[in-house]
Parts: sequence; structure tokens; C-alpha cells
Amino acid sequence: MYTYGFLLGRKNLLSSSELISRLNKNCEIVDITPLSLVINSKQALENPQNLLDTLGGTIKIIEIHSDSIKKYNSIPKSLEKLALKLFKGAEKKVKHAVSAHILSKESKKIIKNSIYRIKDACKQQEIKSRYINKTFENPHIAQIKDEKAKDLVALEGTDKYYYGQTIAIQNIDSYSKRDYKRPERDARLGMLPPKLAQIMINLSRKSSGTLYDPFCGIGTILAEGMLMNFNVVGSDLDHENIQKSLHNLKWLQTEYPVTAEKNFRLFQADAGKIAKKDLSEKIDCVISETYLGPPMSSGISMNEVKENLAKIEKTIFEFFRSIKNVTPKNVAIVLSLLTYRVKDQGEEKFITMTHLLTKLEQEGFVTEPLISHEISSEYGLNVRQHNGLLYERPDQTVCRTIFKFVKK
Ligand SMILES: C[S@@+](CC[C@H](N)C(=O)[O-])C[C@H]1O[C@@H](n2cnc3c(N)ncnc32)[C@H](O)[C@@H]1O
Repeated sequence: MYTYGFLLGRKNLLSSSELISRLNKNCEIVDITPLSLVINSKQALENPQNLLDTLGGTIKIIEIHSDSIKKYNSIPKSLEKLALKLFKGAEKKVKHAVSAHILSKESKKIIKNSIYRIKDACKQQEIKSRYINKTFENPHIAQIKDEKAKDLVALEGTDKYYYGQTIAIQNIDSYSKRDYKRPERDARLGMLPPKLAQIMINLSRKSSGTLYDPFCGIGTILAEGMLMNFNVVGSDLDHENIQKSLHNLKWLQTEYPVTAEKNFRLFQADAGKIAKKDLSEKIDCVISETYLGPPMSSGISMNEVKENLAKIEKTIFEFFRSIKNVTPKNVAIVLSLLTYRVKDQGEEKFITMTHLLTKLEQEGFVTEPLISHEISSEYGLNVRQHNGLLYERPDQTVCRTIFKFVKK
């Protein structure tokens, strides 16, 4: 039996739901906290870095040592034992970090104690070692990667602590290249972060076939789809955006050779008027960030909220009607829907397209929980109503909720 910990990203519920959708039948979830998700697996992960490169919501994968720690104070001793085991016989000086992903207590003290213990123990065993987190804060993943350091980790679980070593780290350079170095960008559009695009694709539970994005903009989802083994089809109302998608996807194929063997097709169309002749391919999943309306600031009135949502709801409803008979029954549809952050009598609220959800149900499209009720109640996860999960930053008025739809 192997145990792995996944250090979750900022939106921990979306990160957990992505993992739940992606992990195969050989894996059993044994713990979920706001920081991490832990699994037991009958098989060793074949290529943890490849897996992590397609998990937008995970920051690190940690191979967990078989015994867990009951008491917080015992973490340094366990990390010392692990360090000696891992560093034994090293010919060169071993560079290492200590990370403590702990919610309930101050991690700095535990990092400091662990580092001093490891240093002394290595000295006694004549192992040359050097730690990289000199301030005793959790090291940034870029530092661990750049310095090629072994990362020894303590992870807080629901009622115990786990410890182990990092075996894969999020490739922030590649995400940033895909986001900022592509030839076409358009901040007014509300481009989707590539990590969120990956999460949405994983939520579909499909791993190959043809992915369709009917509001493709400049092609963020299409690009991530191609990197994740899909052929892709994209359409948009705006001709200029189609040209930008074309430019971006051609760039992707030169920068990321694995995508060169994938097909892409783009066409200009109103998403509400998609006909059979537009989609000759068998579509396996529809993944899309639908129209977000005009940019809005925090002073938005309730009337504006209602008006904008109603307009966009109409477009999305028409889209569902148009694809109803064009896509197969088992098609998975994962959408990011406009959600406004509003202040109502001093209270912060998030308002999304709830009318649309009711209308779609009558059309035969129902939302599926992104985290099952059993899992959310077992681990006390605060999953929102209507089966969707919110994605926002504290300063945003225009936010997104991610929903998965299936055909009844
Ligand atoms: C939020 S943007 C999508 C951005 C995209 N996810 C990206 O990262 O590039 C929404 C897109 O919907 C398109 N759009 C708006 N109304 C549409 C409609 N009725 N049919 C198709 N596309 C539409 C806009 O032109 C815009 O490109």
C-alpha cells in the first residue's frame, strides 16, 4: 500500500473535487482538510510529475511515510529519521528544505526544530547537508525547484500528522508561459487561468476524445485540452477572437510538441445557434467559460446584477437547447458561470444564475455535485448550494462558479 498527500491550491474545494474526479479506482481517499487530500493507493504513482502537470489545483505531491504522528511535538523526530534514511550514502552535500503544512499551530517553530535536529543528526553520521529555508518559513516551491532541494514535509490531517517527502512540484514556469507568453492576450475578456481550465477539464472525468468550447475567446481551454490529450473544437461569436485562438494554438504546437499531433478546429458562431452541421465530430465533453458580461466594479447595483444575469442566462439557455440534439447522451458539460459578489445590507453575497439551473433541469440537463454528499459530510466540507463551486479573488466583483451538467 502506498500513501500520497496532495497539497491543495488556494481554492481547496475545487482542488479536492478535481482530485476526486481524476484519481482512479485503485485509490482510496483517507483524509481531506483545507490544506491537503490524502489517499491510499494499491499501486505506486507511475509518473507523479506528469500527473501533477495536469492537475491545476495541486501544488505538491508528497509520498507519505507509513507511520503517522499523533503528537505535534513528535514531528521533528520523525523528519530527522526520514532525513537520515534519505540522505544516507549521499556522495555530495545534500540540499534540503523542511515544509510544515499545518493549520492549527505555528509552523515556524516546528520547521526550526526539525532543521536543527536534522543538522545535528547529519553531522553525527558525517553526512554533509545544507537547509535552504533559512528564515524557517515554508519555502516557496520555486526555491525548492530552483535549488533542486529534497523537501521533507509534515502535513496536518484531521486527527494526526503525516510526514514524507515531496515527489512532484507544480511547474509554475510552464503555467506562466502558457498564460503570459502566448502571442495573444486580452484582459478585457476575462481570460481563464490555465490552472482553472485544467481543473474544469478534469471535472468532466474524460481523458481523451474531442473537447468543445463554444465561447472559446482566445483559446485557453482549447490549449489546455490539447495538452491533456484531447482533439479540440472551438467557436466564438467574435471573429477577432477566433483569429486570436488560431494564433495561440499554432504557437502552442510549436512550443509544446506533444500538442502537434492533436487536431484543432475553430469556427465563428453564435453559441445559441449551433446546428448539427457545425459539429460533425463526436463531442465527448463541453468545457467552457461562458460570457462574463461587461467589466463591473464593486459599486454594482442589484438592478444591474439582475439585468446582466438575465441577458447572459438567455444566451446560455439557448446554447443548451441548440446542443441538446447535437451531442451524445453521455456528454459531460463543465461550465464556468458568471457570479457577482454584491454587498446587500452590509452582507457579502454571491449571486449566480439560479433561474437558469431550474430552466435547464426542465430541458433535461441537471447539475451533478462536484463533491459527493457522502464525502462532504464525512470531512465537513462546506460545499455551496446548487452543486457548484465558487472561484474568486477577494478583490473581484465579477466571479465565477463552476458547474457540471449531465443529460438526464
Ligand atoms: C469570458 S470570454 C471566454 C474567454 C476564454 N475562456 C479565454 O480564456 O480566452 C467569453 C467569450 O464569449 C464570447 N461570446 C459572447 N456571446 C457569445 C455568443 N452568443 N456565442 C458565442 N460566443 C459568445 C465572447 O466573444 C468571448 O470571447
